[in-house]
Amino acid sequence: MSTAREVVLRATGLTKRFTTRRNVLGRAVERLTAVEDVSFELRAGKTLALVGESGSGKSTTARLVTALEKPDAGTVEVCGTEWTALGRSALRRERRRMQMVFQDPYASLDPTKMVVHTVGEPLLVHEGVRGQERDRRVADLLERVGLSARHLHRYPYEFSGGQRQRIAIARALAAGPDIIVADEAVSALDVSTQAQVLNLLLDLQRDSGLAFLFISHDLGVVRQVADHVAVMHRGRLVESGPADEIYESPREAYTKSLLAAVPEVSPSRRRERAGLVTESSTGEVVG
Ligand SMILES: Nc1ncnc2c1ncn2[C@@H]1O[C@H](COP(=O)(O)OP(=O)(O)OP(=O)(O)O)[C@@H](O)[C@H]1O
Ligand SMILES: [Mg+2]
Repeated sequence: MSTAREVVLRATGLTKRFTTRRNVLGRAVERLTAVEDVSFELRAGKTLALVGESGSGKSTTARLVTALEKPDAGTVEVCGTEWTALGRSALRRERRRMQMVFQDPYASLDPTKMVVHTVGEPLLVHEGVRGQERDRRVADLLERVGLSARHLHRYPYEFSGGQRQRIAIARALAAGPDIIVADEAVSALDVSTQAQVLNLLLDLQRDSGLAFLFISHDLGVVRQVADHVAVMHRGRLVESGPADEIYESPREAYTKSLLAAVPEVSPSRRRERAGLVTESSTGEVVG
């Protein structure tokens, strides 16, 4: 297990361009820079939130750090190993350290597989666990995410959205990761289910020292879980720092505008309610 201060994920100068148009000879004639020179660190047991508008490059960054996509420039280091320098088989062995949970568990859970097989697969792949031992381990994992052995032999369609996300989390945990990358993992859930799943993530982190790269466009959700926040805009990181600093005293205009759009987290609005500011005739906060 990692110590509390160790950097478990380090992204350095990540850049990714996509070809958006080719000519008749197949040559790229138009390219889009989805991620440009993005660097950050995530420490053991901590949550770094990546926030920004739709299209700002959050998911591309997630796909780069999890090696689902190859960067055009930059490196990814996971628990001291540079993933971007690994060959295919070495990467396969390292993958268990970092698992992903996506927005849509409908898409990420195989509808034809029972829970015991979905959650048991990483146990088989990484440890060769099968049979009764697997059933026992999967039942333990289900209990860790608030489900139980009763659910072992059920199919995804038999569960609610929140329960399916719990199954996806159990599958991620089965690999024994140090890091979970959650890309909009609660965005499709209703508010009360969101709160339950966020609490589950916080409990898992407290109990096992997991680090989260938590991607969300929802600054209200991020406020509840993040230790650090990194703000993306048009593929670049425009501001990053401890969550309290970002929320209480954002420096960049872009961050301010993002926060202003979220009533419950906007510092100016909170001060406004407390009667500490007055508004000019243009509606600008002047206090
Ligand atoms: N495979 C691809 N081919 C071409 N362009 C892509 C590809 N993947 C992403 N892009 C483009 O890269 C940019 C960043 O996309 P990305 O999905 O990373 O944004 P995002 O911040 O995750 O957005 P959202 O909040 O909508 O999920 C967008 O302009 C997108 O259209
Ligand atoms: Mg995305």
